[in-house]
Amino acid sequence: MSPTYSEYLRLEELLKLQTGVEGETREISNDELHFILVHQNFELWFKLVINELTCTRDILSSDYVEETKLPQAVHHMDRVIEIFKLMSQQWRVMETLEPQDFLNFRDDLGTASGFESFQMREMESLMGTKWIDGKLMGKKENKKSLYDVTCDWLERTPVQGSVYNSKDDETQVNRFIEEYLEAHKKLYPDTNKEAVQFFDEEQSLRRRRAGLVFIESYRELPLLAWPRKLISTLIELEQSMILWRTSHARMVERMIGRRIGTGGSSGVDYLDMTAKYRVFIDLWAVRSILIKKEALPVLKNKDFYEFRGE
Ligand code: HEM
Repeated sequence: MSPTYSEYLRLEELLKLQTGVEGETREISNDELHFILVHQNFELWFKLVINELTCTRDILSSDYVEETKLPQAVHHMDRVIEIFKLMSQQWRVMETLEPQDFLNFRDDLGTASGFESFQMREMESLMGTKWIDGKLMGKKENKKSLYDVTCDWLERTPVQGSVYNSKDDETQVNRFIEEYLEAHKKLYPDTNKEAVQFFDEEQSLRRRRAGLVFIESYRELPLLAWPRKLISTLIELEQSMILWRTSHARMVERMIGRRIGTGGSSGVDYLDMTAKYRVFIDLWAVRSILIKKEALPVLKNKDFYEFRGE
């Protein structure tokens, strides 16, 4: 038998959950109901975000990621980006609570705070946040993060047609880096040091960064189009999260000014600090050392990156 709308959505149970702590007899005001509902809404979106990020992470975590799998990985992240854009707007609803009216029930929250949102921590751990507020964050289940799998995937990028782990790979990748740095120096002699430093790392990181620069530089090649799309979606994903954090901080500033948070942090200053942190550091950093197309090193093994028939 087909379920009814409310059976399917378990609406009766869902709508009974806006009472504050279970078993407490305290009366919930209209403002506090609003406060609880806004939080619950966010947490429901978080649940979906975690699910979508897990799907992306799983797609990228195999040792060989087929090209045909990349659109699906991008699709999951596109959904997360839209959710974060929507959530950034949702702070406006929270702001209809007047600062003074918030004080009517703020003390009842005790030390409860968004700090303790375990779904928020899971999202961060899935993304690959390594530290926050100077503290190293523990990783759930020791599973790889989106950051980890992206690094592994980038490291395997064929550079100038050279295949990862093949005999001459190191020589070929190093040659590409040298040519790239030479071209960069001609255009930007004053900031060339920055580009040199970008590659001046141990071989695995060096190869990963060469892969990233290669994809960014020759992104119009058919084989690199989806990898490049994946990278720009990762950037947009992080950007949408940062904007969400920033708009939370502005809402908080408007609501409680410079008061400390119920979770014991410095409040707005702490929240602004979390918006400065970047997970995909290289993906952001590479933008400072890109060079215009016509100055790029000559592409080798072009056929390798073309469309391929069966
Ligand atoms: C009146 C409304 C709100 C105020 C005044 C407020 C204030 C704060 C403050 C001061 C912090 C820093 C931690 C602390 O010391 O407590 C914080 C953290 C946080 N808040 Fe809010 N918040 C509000 C609404 C919300 C809502 C609706 C959500 C949605 C789930 C939320 C999610 C979070 C999260 C996830 C953190 C942890 C951020 C991190 O550590 O990166 N907050 N909030």
